[in-house]
Amino acid sequence: MCGIVGHLGPSDSVEVVMEGLRRLEYRGYDSAGVTFINESGELKTYKKTGKIEKLTELISNVDTHSMVSIGHTRWATHGGVTDFNSHPHAFEKLSMVHNGIIENADELRDELIAKGYNFKSETDSEVFLMLVNDLKKSMPLKEAILKGFTRVTGNSAFVFISEEEKEIFAIKRAAPLVCGTHYTKSQAVVSSDPYALAGAADRIYFPEDGILCHLSVGNKELIAFYDSEGKPSKAYQSKKQDMQVDPSDKGDFEHYMLKEIYEQPGLIRALCQYYFNGDGKEALAAMADLNPSRFHITACGTAFYAGLVVRDFIEAINRIPCSFELASEFRYRNPILEKNDIGLFISQSGETADTLAGQEECKEQNAKTVSLVNVEGSSLYRACDHNLLIRAGVEIGVASTKAFTQMGLTGRLLAHALSGDLDNSVKQTELTDRFELLAERIDKLLEEVDKIKAIAEEIYNKKGYFFTGRGRYFPVALEGALKLKEIAYVHAEGYAAGELKHGPIALIDEDMVNIALVGPELKEKTISNIQEIKARKGIIVGIGPKDNSLMKISDYFLELNFDGLEELSPLYINVVNQLLSYYMAKFKGTDIDKPRNLAKSVTVE
Ligand code: G6P
Repeated sequence: MCGIVGHLGPSDSVEVVMEGLRRLEYRGYDSAGVTFINESGELKTYKKTGKIEKLTELISNVDTHSMVSIGHTRWATHGGVTDFNSHPHAFEKLSMVHNGIIENADELRDELIAKGYNFKSETDSEVFLMLVNDLKKSMPLKEAILKGFTRVTGNSAFVFISEEEKEIFAIKRAAPLVCGTHYTKSQAVVSSDPYALAGAADRIYFPEDGILCHLSVGNKELIAFYDSEGKPSKAYQSKKQDMQVDPSDKGDFEHYMLKEIYEQPGLIRALCQYYFNGDGKEALAAMADLNPSRFHITACGTAFYAGLVVRDFIEAINRIPCSFELASEFRYRNPILEKNDIGLFISQSGETADTLAGQEECKEQNAKTVSLVNVEGSSLYRACDHNLLIRAGVEIGVASTKAFTQMGLTGRLLAHALSGDLDNSVKQTELTDRFELLAERIDKLLEEVDKIKAIAEEIYNKKGYFFTGRGRYFPVALEGALKLKEIAYVHAEGYAAGELKHGPIALIDEDMVNIALVGPELKEKTISNIQEIKARKGIIVGIGPKDNSLMKISDYFLELNFDGLEELSPLYINVVNQLLSYYMAKFKGTDIDKPRNLAKSVTVE
């Protein structure tokens, strides 16, 4: 969940690391810190609680010229949010940043205290620093890290910088780590997220667990990889070129979330192109041979709700049963995986610990696995037998928006590919046109965004919110409520419209809002459900097609044009939810791109 960055190059190392940290701040924002080797060859560490601006302020009058540095943004797990607990941790000539949890930290700490070590922080991280420091007394740093790594349990990534070696070492287990080099800039970078490497590296490598990454000017390619015995090894090299584009600019948008909402039409249009005429062709075609008897759709958060949309597509088109499971529950339920069952894992980052654990469970039970994933080369991507990239580009806003839409659409393509009907150019054109229609409708919605903003202004201060929908609109009711909770810090629930009467209706009064998602299907039944809420004085926000009864019953009404969208219509209505949440959060004045307590990529279980 923490963001880590290391850089080695001819100059301005701290600048590159700070820029990387700024991009990774969405991963955690309790504190930030940096260690660099100054021009006199000494290790210098600066760290501060709060957001990156605090660190920028702290080092504003410091000479940070350096060729090697590491940095960290923290999402606290062990130890409170204090300067001491912030990373990097430094001891004598060594400094280190950590992302993850050392499960046997207490035991190792006792051992090291018995040897006379004193700890400055309450963190588990400092334990590994001291352990390596201790081992380093009798062996080179490279061996000390490899040996020390065998003693720690849990999922972690560590990056070290040493005053003596003036180099960087990194190693990980079941936590994200990516390295890269830039040939013309003669620099090497390492991070917990490929996004930090955008513009800083043109070759990107994803090391496997236990592989030691060594960033040094002494290496021919600036980076070398070693296995657990210290022998030269390799890392997966990404094929993706997108990371060379610097996506960090918000443009004219006030928030990344809004920028990402607006990117959706363009991404939708590009998806068919990628899968029908571009590099995605082969991966999609391979789906036709899968022949699963059941899918186990597994994911977390927004990706989980996208999974429900995908389930509806697969069950409707392929009549293949899909069970769906929250990744955090999946493997603990001792899932029944039969021959020819396939695990379908959905993830933006490809690094969510629970989702990875679910994939591992399938692998152990010899089930094939397929991913719908955004980050090529991520842990999930490398672990699955097949991958379909969702092509959402870099998503910075902690509240996921465009990834949801792309997951749904990639799932749609998967469903068609499974049935083999994508071989046919008529079907391809039909789908391209349908996707185009969705993009056009979203364009139109964005042109008329003031209507949504006006509704948001009326309702943002109410007691609570029920997003309701039936059938294909139920998954987006769940996703709509999640979005609102995440960024506006209000209580919201997604409910199947027909289920509300079985309990939650007790909560309805004149200060409760029902955001009623109504499509052409099951319209009358859904309107009856809204009547039940209206009768109990609930405030109704009707979102749906032109319909007299719906308009009459709604306190606020937003008309949508569903014509021709059919099964893609949940993805259309969901953009209304995204914008409604965005503007409600804006009226409330919350930190939209970095909502409290959340992290974009949850790499702990
Ligand atoms: C976190 C994020 C959510 C995201 C979920 C799954 O909780 O805050 O926005 O949906 O993780 O992330 P993934 O990268 O696996 O899609």
